[in-house]
Amino acid sequence: MESRICEMLNIKYPILQGGMAWIAEHKLVAAVSNAGGLGIIAAGNAPVDVVRNEIKKAKALTDKPFGVNIMLLSPYAEEVAHMVCEEGVAVVTTGAGNPGKYLDMWKAHNIKVIPVVPSVALAKRMERAGVDAVIAEGCESGGHVGELTTMALLPQVVDAVNIPVIAAGGIGDGRGVAAAKVLGADAFQIGTRFLVAKECIIHENYKHKVLAAKDIDTKVTGKPTGHPVRTLKNKLTRKFLQLEKEGASIEELEELGKGTLQLAVFDGDVANGSIMAGQIAGMVNKEQTCEEIIEEMMAHTQEVINRVGQCI
Ligand SMILES: Cc1cc2nc3c(=O)[nH]c(=O)nc-3n(C[C@H](O)[C@H](O)[C@H](O)COP(=O)(O)O)c2cc1C
Repeated sequence: MESRICEMLNIKYPILQGGMAWIAEHKLVAAVSNAGGLGIIAAGNAPVDVVRNEIKKAKALTDKPFGVNIMLLSPYAEEVAHMVCEEGVAVVTTGAGNPGKYLDMWKAHNIKVIPVVPSVALAKRMERAGVDAVIAEGCESGGHVGELTTMALLPQVVDAVNIPVIAAGGIGDGRGVAAAKVLGADAFQIGTRFLVAKECIIHENYKHKVLAAKDIDTKVTGKPTGHPVRTLKNKLTRKFLQLEKEGASIEELEELGKGTLQLAVFDGDVANGSIMAGQIAGMVNKEQTCEEIIEEMMAHTQEVINRVGQCI
């Protein structure tokens, strides 16, 4: 599949593994990059030395390009933003905000900058600021979500900007890739399906929850805080939604969410932990290596495009 993104990022396949806080660490990232996609280390809320260490470990496992996802709400975002320059990282993706103030510095270090955008307005603003591409992420996705679906957001962003657009949210197989391609995407960012990759370090309980999930098993909580999150439903989401209904304060809701992703990822507490995953989890039902996931997805995309082409 021809893609401006493959050329720009020097990768074989136009598949990006989405940054996933506490989850997308060096093993997953190197496995994706070695398989021809772009692995992306998630900085999340981690201190700068933790992220630097992940970068060094990833470099030891792959000589292919990989990226770092910087969550702009993190208290360490500023330090991580400088550190990626020192470490010669090839690509930075950003979440939860506008990375404008770091752009000149990253450009001076030849870093490709690709923010996640939940709206046309932010996509246009980012293009004017000089980013290399944008990730249009629909609210089907796991983790923090915006308002619009991928189906509605993606073509509107594609029409609004000239830089490459990467589709994210709800892509689980070759049909999803082909559909996003038809809507104008140059590449595809995948999170939920990589949660069950053999190289993904999440606790077995978390993996089993994703593998067993049905189509309607996700919930969005935290809307009143301004940072809604999509997760698989469990005791924690019930508690959240109950508190939201009762009009709990933002502070109370934020307190309830603290540390809950780590609880699920590392301790396997899938009752009280936050099991972030997207709506496509209902279709994610086998554990595979990153290479198998990417190869299968690309072959399936080709098959779907050929089949649809014949029908038309
Ligand atoms: C468990 C989990 C954690 C995530 N954490 C982050 C994050 O730290 N930063 C970010 O920009 N996006 C984050 N995302 C979003 C992904 O990078 C990606 O865009 C999204 O998962 C794509 O949609 P999908 O889940 O339907 O494949 C997260 C997603 C998941 C599932």
